[in-house]
Amino acid sequence: MDRRPLFLMTDPSRFEVSYQINPWMKPDAWRSDPQAFRAQAKAASAALKAALTAAGGAVETLEAAPGLPDLVFPANAAVVLDGQVLLARFLYPERQGEEPVFRAAFEQLRRRGLVREIAELPEGLFHEGAGDCIWDATRGHFWGGYGPRSSYGALDVISQTFGRDVVPLELASDRFYHLDTCFCPLSGGEVLYHPPAFTPAALARIRARVSPSRRIEASAAEATAFCVNAVNVGRTLIMARAPASLRETLAARGYDLVEVDLDPFILSGGAAYCMTLRLDRTSVAGAVLAAE
Ligand code: ARG
Repeated sequence: MDRRPLFLMTDPSRFEVSYQINPWMKPDAWRSDPQAFRAQAKAASAALKAALTAAGGAVETLEAAPGLPDLVFPANAAVVLDGQVLLARFLYPERQGEEPVFRAAFEQLRRRGLVREIAELPEGLFHEGAGDCIWDATRGHFWGGYGPRSSYGALDVISQTFGRDVVPLELASDRFYHLDTCFCPLSGGEVLYHPPAFTPAALARIRARVSPSRRIEASAAEATAFCVNAVNVGRTLIMARAPASLRETLAARGYDLVEVDLDPFILSGGAAYCMTLRLDRTSVAGAVLAAE
């Protein structure tokens, strides 16, 4: 049985920045040289895949689909834990066409035994998947972002679907529109987060659950470089190119930083974490999904 951490990624061949649904998206910049950006994006995605593999992970690649450039951000496809999949519902029409594509992909994965069960959100609720719902393995609960993209009401559905607590965190800024842009729990129990992205109530919830010695505050420069949007495999952290400040902080905590140039994707408001979706995450440390 393959026990490697399993990630879903999407072939970047159709990636582009052709609309603007978050403040980072720069369609004009993209249009200035689409071919060069597309080539850079392919190289960046391949480098991320290589970094995941080198860190001991395995990658499933979803085919690109025409007219759905943001399909390269599968973190937004669903919340996945213990083989259970809760499909996302996107706020913006620009991304709603991704829903049937991701649903079909999960049905395939279920046929292959890589996930077990697929559930949907009730009508009227929006939720953008693991981008706004992050599992904290140290504490055994989800952290749920809401406000810009995901509905508060969806957090209750997540809690019921997975039988786990979801700590609600309201996002205060449209620049940090998904929780994964400003919040990242690490394997050693620390939380890397950018405080100005949260409302006072959300900050109080973080600080009530994470002791001061485990809080790592990301500066504006670090968060703007999309470094909080990181993939953590064991002691390895894979992220976009990092300011020296963050390199030092994380090295002092015993993490190995792997930096990947993800600039073309940052031009769409995304980076390492949201270009992936972890498929084999279990709520019980050490459990192996396929053995269930
Ligand atoms: N252009 C995409 C959007 O605005 C980027 C999504 C990045 N995903 C994330 N989970 N941060 O929806």
